[in-house]
Amino acid sequence: MREITAEIQRLKKERKATILAHYYQEGEIQELADFTGDSLALARAATKVENPIIVFCGVHFMAETAKILNPEKKVLLPDLLAGCSLADSCPADKLARYQEMLRINGRKFQTVTYINSTAGVKALSDWVVTSGNAMEIIHRVPKEMEILFVPDRHLGQYLEEVTGRKMILWDGACMVHEIFSLGDLLAMKKQHPGALTIAHPECPANIRAHSDFVGGTEAMLRKIATLEKDSEIIVATEPNMLWQMEHKFPRHRYHPVPGITCACNKCPHMGRNTLEKLADCLENDTPEIFWSPSFDRAREVLQRSLLN
Ligand code: 13P
Repeated sequence: MREITAEIQRLKKERKATILAHYYQEGEIQELADFTGDSLALARAATKVENPIIVFCGVHFMAETAKILNPEKKVLLPDLLAGCSLADSCPADKLARYQEMLRINGRKFQTVTYINSTAGVKALSDWVVTSGNAMEIIHRVPKEMEILFVPDRHLGQYLEEVTGRKMILWDGACMVHEIFSLGDLLAMKKQHPGALTIAHPECPANIRAHSDFVGGTEAMLRKIATLEKDSEIIVATEPNMLWQMEHKFPRHRYHPVPGITCACNKCPHMGRNTLEKLADCLENDTPEIFWSPSFDRAREVLQRSLLN
């Protein structure tokens, strides 16, 4: 392990590469990264990278977003098959047909798309949001317009609750957040009566309803920063997030909420990136995210939504 870590450090320098890693990556990868963050911070950080190569340790849509915002950089993803159940739930051709049907029915709407989607879907959208800027963007949609929110119905429902805007919701969900066990969460709350429960807005309403705080991964860290030492925190999001929480705020105790079907519901897509694949990727300059025609229109939408 120490050897491969040293090898990655050496290759990173030699290749002039910057490693960006999402908080859902294994701790050993987060530890090696030049920058860790949520989807919004990573997209923004990608635009500031000076090195010619970005190695994105996250899932495909994240690396794709980094490429779209930095066409001149080489963007590598250690495993191209690191996908996303949300992105898979909303194919671009299906969305285009649905939008056409709404238009034929005389509906006036804007499409607000969660960043967990393909470039083809972003290209069909008016706005792209992350957990970090969704509320702000929803307020930018003219009141006389309906909102078609894709692809996460749970995040969409949460945004309806906090903004008061009714939305047409696509029927997608994150395979990790959808399966948290309410029974286990309630048992944990009983076991740790003073604990603060925090949940990602991708969680279904039953989990959110029993949480003290709902927010994206960066918002979770900001919340934890306000707590007194030695707090107990029950966490409903991808369990690798606990590595970052423990790393930044080691004085608290963290309890991950298990899934219904298994005690640990790590994201299998995020887990595809390993130290070995990261080293290979730096060594061989592949797998790479290449420019595709849908990126042009997706770029306009991403720049307007995330960088302005
Ligand atoms: P954050 O932007 O809150 O880190 O969420 C990323 C994500 O993909 C959750 O599934």
